[in-house]
Formats: sequence, C-alpha cells, structure tokens
Amino acid sequence: GPPEPLHRPPDQICLDEELCVDTHQHFELRGDSRPGSAWDLGAGVFNKELGQLILTLEDTPLSGFASLLREIFRQADLTQARVPPPIIERLTLDVDKVAEREKQRGVPESSPVVHAVFFALCWTLDRMYEGRPVQKFWVLETVARLPYFSYITVLHLYESFGWWRTPQLREIHNAEEFNELHHLLIMEALGGNCAWFDRFAAHHAAIAYYWIVVALFVSDPRLAYNFSLLVEEHAHVTYAQFVDENAEVLERIPPPPIATRYYVAGDLYYFDKFHTCGRPDSQQRRRPPCAHLLDVFRNIRDDELEHSRTMRACQDWLDGDGPSAIPDFEQTSLGDRREWLEWSARVNSLTLKKK
Ligand SMILES: [Fe+2]
Ligand SMILES: [Fe+2]
Repeated sequence: GPPEPLHRPPDQICLDEELCVDTHQHFELRGDSRPGSAWDLGAGVFNKELGQLILTLEDTPLSGFASLLREIFRQADLTQARVPPPIIERLTLDVDKVAEREKQRGVPESSPVVHAVFFALCWTLDRMYEGRPVQKFWVLETVARLPYFSYITVLHLYESFGWWRTPQLREIHNAEEFNELHHLLIMEALGGNCAWFDRFAAHHAAIAYYWIVVALFVSDPRLAYNFSLLVEEHAHVTYAQFVDENAEVLERIPPPPIATRYYVAGDLYYFDKFHTCGRPDSQQRRRPPCAHLLDVFRNIRDDELEHSRTMRACQDWLDGDGPSAIPDFEQTSLGDRREWLEWSARVNSLTLKKK
C-alpha cells in the first residue's frame, strides 16, 4: 500500500540550514567571521552555554538555583535553543544488534588496555544515548575527529624539530578529519547538538581524548592507530545497523544542503584524498549519490569503512607488517632522488659561455 505519512509532509520538515543550524555556529560556517582573542571567544561561549544551562534547570526541581544564576550572571544569553526536527524522534538504533553485527565481522585485534578503554567508551555512550541516535552520532562525530587533530599536531611537531617529514601522511589525516567534520555538520543540520548537556559532554570528552591520543601517538603510534581502527570499525557497523533499521523513513527525507555540497556539488579534492586503499585512478573514484537522507547515511557508513581501512593500513605499516599506508602515486608526489640526480646532471652539463 502507500507509505505511511510522516508527521508533517516532507516539504515542511525543517532541514533548511537557516532554521536548523544554531545561529552562532551558522555564523561561523559562513567563513567570514573573525575569530578574536581566546578571552572574547571563551566569554561568548560561556554566556551562551550558561544561558542554556539556566533554561534547562528552570524546568527541573533546581529552578531556584536557576533564578540565582540569572541574578548573578546578567550577561547570560537566554535565547531559546532550537529544537530538532520532529522526524528525528522516529529514528531508532538497536545497540544489541550493533553488538551482534560487530561479533559477526570480528572486532579487530588489539591490546587489552586499548580494548578496555574502547569498550568502556562504547558502553557509556550506549547507555547515555539510548533512543537518541542522532544526538549520539553528533557526540561520536565530535570525538571521532579528534585523533586526526592529534596526529596532525604531532606530525607538525616532528617536522618543526626536523625529525621526520612526510607531508603526504598529514594530508591524508587532514582529509579524514575534513570528512568527519562533514559528518558532524550533517548531524548538526539534523539537530544533534541542540541540547546543552550533549554539547557539554562532547566538548569535554573531546579535550581529554585529544591529549590521550597525542600521548599515545608520541609513545606508540601503532597503538594510536589501533585505537582509531577500533573506533572507525565500530562507527561503520553502527551506521550500517542504523541504515537498515530506518531505511523507509530516511528515504523520504531530502538531504541536508551541507551533505549535497560535500558529496556532489562541491570541490571533491579532499573527498578523494582520504580514499587511500586501492583507488588509484579517476575511473575508480567513489562518487556516491545524495538524493535523500538514506543516501547520506549510506555514504557516512561507507566513509567510516574507508577510515577503518586506512587506519589498519597505517597500523600495519608502522608494525612493519605492511607496505606504506601512503598510496604509491603519492609517495613520489614531492619528487624523488632520481629526479633530482637527473636534473643536477643536466645542470652540470650546461656549458656556460664566457663573455
Ligand atoms: Fe564519522
Ligand atoms: Fe569515523
């Protein structure tokens, strides 16, 4: 029979960036806002988030405390937060089925400590975000980007010291981070970051996670890549389950504009860059469709699989078990010694005329 109607007809579903993206962040996204001093930035966010905390507390038994905060911090921004589009409540994620799928695929090999940290992280998020998959994805994507920041930080440091220089690896991690950023922006368009507490939890977890991965990458880069491998593999399996569970609803929702821009309409240079495993020429380049939200989540699912492949390649490379994780055609992209020798031979053979 005909599909069951959604709560509101699709053309009224709020997926317009103007409406869905938080005004502060929307301003940042335009790319023309000046950053200012750390003090100004911090104070701005403090006033905004404090206002959201006050508004959250007002609906709880702690409303007296909320009034007190209102009195003390008169500069708090009390603008009502936007709410996620209602369609979000129809989306589900069965964490037991995710675990089942993970078992079938086989969790990648790891050290007991790394595995324990990973397991604790998954367990906590599964419990905290039961029944709120989009918010969970937003938190996960906020945190998922951090290891790439950590790798880039340490690689920059090694270049500054003159210890090791392979900008191609930095570029791959940059492209991976840019991809995770777009997953994050898509979750924001869906209203995944509307609640004060989710932003609080995600950003604090992100700071801790950034430094943990920096320390891990400095002391044992194989282990750092191994941890990322577990996380990316888990993300892939989670999105696969989500796609299968919600296909019917997702297929009837138009894609958020940011998704179309990233997967189809925009500059795909960085999109191609993170595909490091077996896509050497333009014929094989991944060009996924983006007609509805189902396509978008399928794309995200497949992106996560690419990340897990790259992380495995990086891990095996550093372990000494595998070839360079940098694709062949990029290994010589900055020139090689043979090229230089040929050039210098040509220079040496020049006979310079005396005047
Ligand atoms: Fe992601
Ligand atoms: Fe990821």
